[in-house]
Amino acid sequence: ATPVPTSRGALIAIEGLDRAGKSTQCDLLMERLQREGKKARLQKFPDRTTTIGKMIDSYLKSTSQLDDHAIHLLFSANRWELAAKILADVNEGWTIIMDRYVYSGVVFSAAKGLGYEYCRTPDTGLPRPDAVIFLDLSAADAAKRGGFGEERYEVPKMQRRVREMFQFMMEDVRDEGDWKVLDAGKSVEEVQGEIWGLVEKAEEFAKGTGLRSIA
Ligand code: TMP
Ligand code: MG
Repeated sequence: ATPVPTSRGALIAIEGLDRAGKSTQCDLLMERLQREGKKARLQKFPDRTTTIGKMIDSYLKSTSQLDDHAIHLLFSANRWELAAKILADVNEGWTIIMDRYVYSGVVFSAAKGLGYEYCRTPDTGLPRPDAVIFLDLSAADAAKRGGFGEERYEVPKMQRRVREMFQFMMEDVRDEGDWKVLDAGKSVEEVQGEIWGLVEKAEEFAKGTGLRSIA
């Protein structure tokens, strides 16, 4: 039987550097949430299935070129086009795990040289996650993992800048208190255990409050 929603679900963003294990951890988390009979779904950003998502996909695969501002706004528009559904689902009791969100949006564009504040502006007003789980990986540990793929940003110089921008943003949003930094250098099981604890806390938190917006 479908579980009866007693209150809203939690909105949780999983962020981190490429190769930090985001997708592996999101998949494991979804399996466990579903095993426990929770109403939960995964929302990956960018969502490449929409019309805007297809433009993003071809940009990332370098089959199209776009001005840095234009692609930045498309990534944000891709979140906006899904925002109403996210809001509705969370309010119906679904916990939504987002694989990347506005934080990737800011740091990747800022790493290319767009202003940090400029990068934040288009995402203002989007649903704010109850928790942002940041999978942190040292440069040394990252280097030990598999090589880069073939997409546009998967080159060492860009990845170094993205790492720096994530560090900067983590400091900048520290007061907001919703970032939880996990050491992604630990084993898959250990990291999963820690994520699970944070997800349970976020679900508890969600019961007592309405969803907030990104300031
Ligand atoms: P993915 O590998 O998780 O599908 O993400 C695709 C790439 O897009 C990755 O290099 C991160 C980047 N990205 C942005 O530049 N801006 C964004 O808003 C998002 C969500 C991802
Ligand atoms: Mg990728």
